[in-house]
Amino acid sequence: MKKVKIALLGLGNVGRGVWMILNSNKEEIMKRSGYEVEVSKILVRDLKKERGVEVPSELLTTDFNDIINDDSIKIVVEVMGGIEPAREYMLESMNKRKHIVTANKMLLATGGDELFQKADSQGVMFNYEASVAGGIPIINGINESLTANKIEKLYGIVNGTTNYILTKMEFENLSFNEALKQAQEMGYAETDPTSDIEGFDAQYKLAILSSLAFGTKIKVENVYREGISKIESIDIQYAREFKKVIKLLAIVKDNAGKLELRVHPTMIPENHPLANVYDSFNAVFIKGNAVGDLMFYGRGAGDLPTGSAVISDIVSILRSNIDIDNINTVVKNNLWDKELYNIEEVISKYYIRLTVEDRPGVLGEITSVFGSMNVGLLSVIQRGRDIENENKVTLVLVTHYTKEGNILNSIDSVCKLNSVYKINNIIRMEEFN
Ligand code: NAP
Ligand code: HSE
Repeated sequence: MKKVKIALLGLGNVGRGVWMILNSNKEEIMKRSGYEVEVSKILVRDLKKERGVEVPSELLTTDFNDIINDDSIKIVVEVMGGIEPAREYMLESMNKRKHIVTANKMLLATGGDELFQKADSQGVMFNYEASVAGGIPIINGINESLTANKIEKLYGIVNGTTNYILTKMEFENLSFNEALKQAQEMGYAETDPTSDIEGFDAQYKLAILSSLAFGTKIKVENVYREGISKIESIDIQYAREFKKVIKLLAIVKDNAGKLELRVHPTMIPENHPLANVYDSFNAVFIKGNAVGDLMFYGRGAGDLPTGSAVISDIVSILRSNIDIDNINTVVKNNLWDKELYNIEEVISKYYIRLTVEDRPGVLGEITSVFGSMNVGLLSVIQRGRDIENENKVTLVLVTHYTKEGNILNSIDSVCKLNSVYKINNIIRMEEFN
């Protein structure tokens, strides 16, 4: 049996998962790859940290030179995260003709070009299956299995932390912060969970997926982004009244060559397959012009699911006879230029929750503003007073399909009414038409 030496950069959640699978599934990996995979060095910051796995202490190092200067190490697995020094370490490794496996969506989405070009010029492989949707083989799915298709639409629940939070808020009545804390304890969240809850992580992932799916280079700043931090239990309850579920959805649609790219909380019909994706599970729903509707589903975060994707990348390098460098073809070559929509041009239905003064005539004032901006209302719900003695009530509006620009203009005007205290939330609705 041939042996290959690899190094891990990082032994946190993902690194630990990789280590555990390499040990528990050693034989399967050996048979499938034709190699015995030996981890010969692991870069960490703190040699003394309790890791929850037994790793021989001589493998741990805080000095990257121990890896870069060891010519027997053929594959570097970057699972440390962040931009620097991860970027520099990957570039240096490729300069030494080491192949790369990474789970780093932030770096890929913001500076992937430089890394792909380096992989190209050095003739090394650069694999990143774990960067999107944890254990789901979505990168390979799009890059290889769906290449016969024009992809028309892609909808993804691609962040495990936010899906976990929304699930716990709805079914276990946990507060946002309690649910986030649990997601952190489970190893789902990023080091700075702002990336999860404000939608940055999903934005990076959508930029990567749409670059692959549409053969164009998507700049991350061109993906509209909103997170879930404004979602309250009351919005989840209203959604259920409308037979909908709130998900942080990553959406891309190709409308005759023009792309609509957005990440935001979305109310979706409760009978859609994506509505039943709970917990840290992720799913990517794709409509291809040949294959039709397709859904990838699985664990989107956590040590073992992510480790599974990382190891599939290692095995794919070992099976490739090492000199194949065409794995990233779709991203590195800009095959098609695509125009992008501004968010103001997007057409959707909207759920709008407001706190307004409880007096006759207020409803009329508000609905006539929407009417004057060409926004039709599908339903209006006003319950009894929410807060006694304060003369305030909650008003919920659901609009017909309309341009986002019209909604923004209406909200601008509604905010100026003395009878409107607060716009609590605006959530787009998707019907998958
Ligand atoms: P993590 O638990 O914070 O682990 C990071 C590891 O990298 C730690 O072992 C840390 O060392 C090491 N490290 C960080 N900076 C370092 C530096 N400058 N020098 C040496 N070592 C350094 O992170 P994680 O959750 O495993 O995530 C790792 C990467 O995978 C990120 O890019 C993340 O976005 C991505 N990812 C995560 C998941 C998930 O479910 N968690 C899923 C998919 C992708 P110490 O332990 O000594 O501090
Ligand atoms: N923080 C990420 C998530 C990890 O929750 O989805 C997986 O990429």
